[in-house]
Amino acid sequence: MSLPVLARELSHYLDSRVRGGLAGSGMGWSLVLGFGVAYAACYLSSIAKKPQLVAGSKSFCCFLKKYCPVVTETYYPTIWCWEGRTQTLLRPFITSKPQVQYRNELIKTTDGGQISLDWFDNNDSVHYPDDSTRPTILVLPGLTGTSKESYVLHMIQQSEKLGYRCVVFNNRGTAGEDLLTPRTYCAANTEDLEAVIHHVHNLHASAPLLAAGVSMGGMLLLNYLGKTGRETPLMAATVFSPGWNIFASVESLEKRLNWFLFNYYLTTCLQSSVSRHRKMLEKLFDLDLVMKAKTIREFDKQFTSVMFGYPTIEDYYEDASPYHKLKSVGIPLLCLNSVDDVFSPGHAVPVEMAKQNPNVAIVLTSCGGHIGFLEGMWPRNCTYMDRVFKQFVRAIFEHGKQIISM
Ligand SMILES: *[C@@H]1O[C@H](CO)[C@@H](O)[C@H](O)[C@H]1NC(C)=O
Ligand SMILES: *[C@@H]1O[C@H](CO)[C@@H](O)[C@H](O)[C@H]1NC(C)=O
Repeated sequence: MSLPVLARELSHYLDSRVRGGLAGSGMGWSLVLGFGVAYAACYLSSIAKKPQLVAGSKSFCCFLKKYCPVVTETYYPTIWCWEGRTQTLLRPFITSKPQVQYRNELIKTTDGGQISLDWFDNNDSVHYPDDSTRPTILVLPGLTGTSKESYVLHMIQQSEKLGYRCVVFNNRGTAGEDLLTPRTYCAANTEDLEAVIHHVHNLHASAPLLAAGVSMGGMLLLNYLGKTGRETPLMAATVFSPGWNIFASVESLEKRLNWFLFNYYLTTCLQSSVSRHRKMLEKLFDLDLVMKAKTIREFDKQFTSVMFGYPTIEDYYEDASPYHKLKSVGIPLLCLNSVDDVFSPGHAVPVEMAKQNPNVAIVLTSCGGHIGFLEGMWPRNCTYMDRVFKQFVRAIFEHGKQIISM
């Protein structure tokens, strides 16, 4: 129902109530209207805001303003669901799950393991009928996420319309495939990501390649970019809701309410993916201790940091935190974060460091939560994040060469 229609209905209703002469209803309605007006005023003055755009160079900033203008527009979070935690909790239930047919490919790794890739070939691409040069987007889902997450499906839907090909890198052991070695994944170790990028690049060496990472997928991608600098087949990258400093993230997630709403649940998800591979993993880990974890930090202490050979959990978190690698990123990188993200708190977003690297831009909204970014009255189809994704990938594939000259 549009706003004018709603207003008309409301006034009809008011009329009939007043004519019906119900005692006190006039006063009741003026209270309701007064509240509505106050809510709308508060929404417009302090909730709907332009995001903060921080770019390390004038040329990248101009490029974004011209070809990815959504980053300069006011973000209107869904009026009944704007608060960060609410957006984070409700987004998976509210947003639709577009139908996507994948073609699965299992690739072998040097340690004897395997990685499950889900391809969306887009063979019907009207804009890029030639398979060898069709632009390709590598998508990295978050912790415990796979190619079936609604935010991944939406990225694919946007890419389909633009004629691009996508390939989703499922973290080891998460997409239903067997673990062939006692090894899963973490945010710091980029070996699997390197293997996947080279595999995709070798298959389609003449196709431009871009990567998009969400949450932990974004952290992994940032760590890769910090390590490789310019030495990568990627032409650009974008990350959504990545954590920047894991110490700040776990501290935020250990606050009572956040633990209750997110941390405990996520820990049980991590544990259930460990139980799925119990036979393979119990050879090397004390799974009873792992199953006792009540927080992500305890899980990482008993499992992730041990698996990847860190002497302490602090060593792992330090190594996996992407903020101190931002200075070495050597390709255009667009990051989207929200200040009210409990997984990646606003105070830990490295705004000052982004100003020092000409390749980097950060878009910081005041609402949006963690992978929320809901907008519009009924945000089923498209979020602010989807629009940033769509405009940015298109800007890079179609005008990317202009960044330097702007
Ligand atoms: C698209 O084309 C590629 C290469 O010709 C082929 O391997 C793949 O199976 C096709 N994908 C689908 C979904 O038909
Ligand atoms: C949502 O997307 C579907 C499929 O693309 C489309 O048919 C529908 O009209 C869209 N709805 C809105 C509200 O935009």
